[in-house]
Amino acid sequence: MMLEKHGHGGDVWTAAELYGLDKNSFLDFSSNMNPLGPPEAAGRIIQEEWRRELSRYPDPDCRELRQRIGEVYGVSASCVLAGNGAAEIIDLAVRSRSPRTVGLLQPSFREYATAAQRAGAGIVDIPLSAEREFDPVWSLAEVQKAAREAELFLFGHPNNPTGRLLPPEFVRQLTAAGKPVILDEAFIDFSGEEERVSFIRQAAESDRLCVVRSMTKFYTVPGLRLGFAVAGQGWIEAMKRLQVEWSVNGLAQRIGQAVLGDEEYARATRDWLHEESAWLTQALTGLGLRATPSAANYLLFRIPSEWGVTIHSLQEAMGRRGILIRSAATYQGLDDRYGRSAIRSHEDNMRLVAALAACLEDLRG
Ligand SMILES: Cc1ncc(COP(=O)(O)O)c(C=O)c1O
Repeated sequence: MMLEKHGHGGDVWTAAELYGLDKNSFLDFSSNMNPLGPPEAAGRIIQEEWRRELSRYPDPDCRELRQRIGEVYGVSASCVLAGNGAAEIIDLAVRSRSPRTVGLLQPSFREYATAAQRAGAGIVDIPLSAEREFDPVWSLAEVQKAAREAELFLFGHPNNPTGRLLPPEFVRQLTAAGKPVILDEAFIDFSGEEERVSFIRQAAESDRLCVVRSMTKFYTVPGLRLGFAVAGQGWIEAMKRLQVEWSVNGLAQRIGQAVLGDEEYARATRDWLHEESAWLTQALTGLGLRATPSAANYLLFRIPSEWGVTIHSLQEAMGRRGILIRSAATYQGLDDRYGRSAIRSHEDNMRLVAALAACLEDLRG
């Protein structure tokens, strides 16, 4: 059995079965959360408002939350749809276009292919180049080729597991050619360049561009489930027609409103990541691993082939020490030399590096 038996990181239940430790005891680098933890406002709202929010139906239109999202991002609330995590939004965005074929960069987040398959679509793979450190700029010609076959495109911006941002010409060329594009910006708030690189404003004015955002990673509330889409009103309405009623619960709506635009939390997060991303990249490189430059709060790394160590064996050795890392071998286009690690607090990152050093020494014999 493998740790990613459900296809994702953060599965401490499977980790407990595999490594024989308590599910609450793991130091988890296999899912990518903000180590600052949920903002204080989240706890306050749960304590003060649980009775009211649990005992009535949530607003089926998420009016106040959408209004707040509109204010914070400078778009009209009519161009916003809230959802039960970015995962639901991705599903709705794909299904609402009824594509026969979907173009995906590989490797990319597995849910993209799953959502395409659920919608009955075939997949057109667009390979990213490992030699070019997965920078999509080198896949531009491949994208143009794929545009002959694919009716819809779905890209991570930044991409998961590579952490790379998309070049703007990707999106410009495809939308100019009349192709609808879904951009998953689930991790873009971690990038110090969010304002400059996000497509959220363009999406609000386009009938061919849909931006997906997650609130679970940046605000550390994956258990709450909250995400949203920004697109032209027509596309938003088509998605809304497919959405199950009341899919965003009342506490999630209230907490979403309260934490959005918390500038202090955002600044502290970016300051932390700026330092720790550089530190961890160097530390992994110091161990002899190859880390891909990342705009997000995770790093894709490769174990040198000549070591004869697989990510599976490394993951297991780390898991037995209570530390979870993500195998990236399950991503299309990667093999069993690739792993992905979240970037956490400095103290946690030091523990990660010390454990990796010890495990790699054991495994290399
Ligand atoms: C790239 C990417 N997009 C979307 C999601 C889903 O996020 P949410 O928790 O908002 O459903 C994930 C979760 O791991 C992800 O990695």
